[in-house]
Amino acid sequence: MGSPADEVNITDAIMEVDGCLFPADIISREGLAYTKNFPVREDDVFNVTYPKSGTTWMQEILSLIMNDVDISKVESVPNWNRAPWLELATAPGYLDGRESPRLATTHVYATFAPTQIMQGKGKVVYVYRNPKDTLISFYHFHNMAKFLSTPESFESFVSDFMNEKLSFGSWFEHIKTWMDVRDKANIIFIAYEDLRKDLAGSVTRIATFLGKKLDAEKLKALVDHCSFSSMKNNNMVNYSEVPRTYFDRGQKFMRKGTVGDWKTMFTVAMNEEFDAFVREKMKGYELDDGWTSDTK
Ligand code: A3P
Repeated sequence: MGSPADEVNITDAIMEVDGCLFPADIISREGLAYTKNFPVREDDVFNVTYPKSGTTWMQEILSLIMNDVDISKVESVPNWNRAPWLELATAPGYLDGRESPRLATTHVYATFAPTQIMQGKGKVVYVYRNPKDTLISFYHFHNMAKFLSTPESFESFVSDFMNEKLSFGSWFEHIKTWMDVRDKANIIFIAYEDLRKDLAGSVTRIATFLGKKLDAEKLKALVDHCSFSSMKNNNMVNYSEVPRTYFDRGQKFMRKGTVGDWKTMFTVAMNEEFDAFVREKMKGYELDDGWTSDTK
């Protein structure tokens, strides 16, 4: 997630800003201020996600849609440079002088996002994933990333997820704040599960949203390049080049890439409690595709 440019000492220190927790050694207050005040160009594209919802996958998809499926270009530049996180302290250097159209990534709530997005500038691709699979993926990521604390147990991690005690805040608040601005921002919601079910169809939907048209050959090349098996072995996206300072090498960033992995760790009782909690939390929030926590 971080830029590997500097070998610095990375710890799991946390900072709280406006009620949301952030990993203090990779996200700075300056980065958050930069994000909020980011001067948005009309053709900027923002890849917005709660962590572990398919950010890296979408970075690759958007990079290719936006460069007319020039695979050689994405094979020479790592994802964190092509689609940098706005809230990281390194973002200004990457983005300010960059040619249009620019691609940026962010994990922040809409309330921390660039104000100009809410005035209809730029385009937002919001990727969401079943919260239980997001939780499982985030749990494993906590055991890998040095800037996140190692969970005491799976049960304590589930409790932290439900009680907004994790870095980048609450999955529920995240999606709700972005759904709250969908009449103001130029935004499309894409489910991870739909990418899995029909990648070509989802890519066509995203390309249309961005005003692009891909012929059959380019679409196929993109879909092949963005398959899990291809991305798993692609050093420009699988984080294998990031120094040990950030990631424990014993774990793989490209872990399973499946739907329903939560079934391997949730007990029946945990699942029932979690589903009831999600239903309550998400009351009044439904997406156009009929998504609720149980349906994907
Ligand atoms: P798992 O941990 O469930 O395997 P993010 O990029 O937001 O951090 O999300 C990481 C998750 O997306 C991981 O999930 C990773 O394996 C999955 N992922 C990344 N690329 C993928 C792809 N091409 N197809 C399916 N899943 C992918």
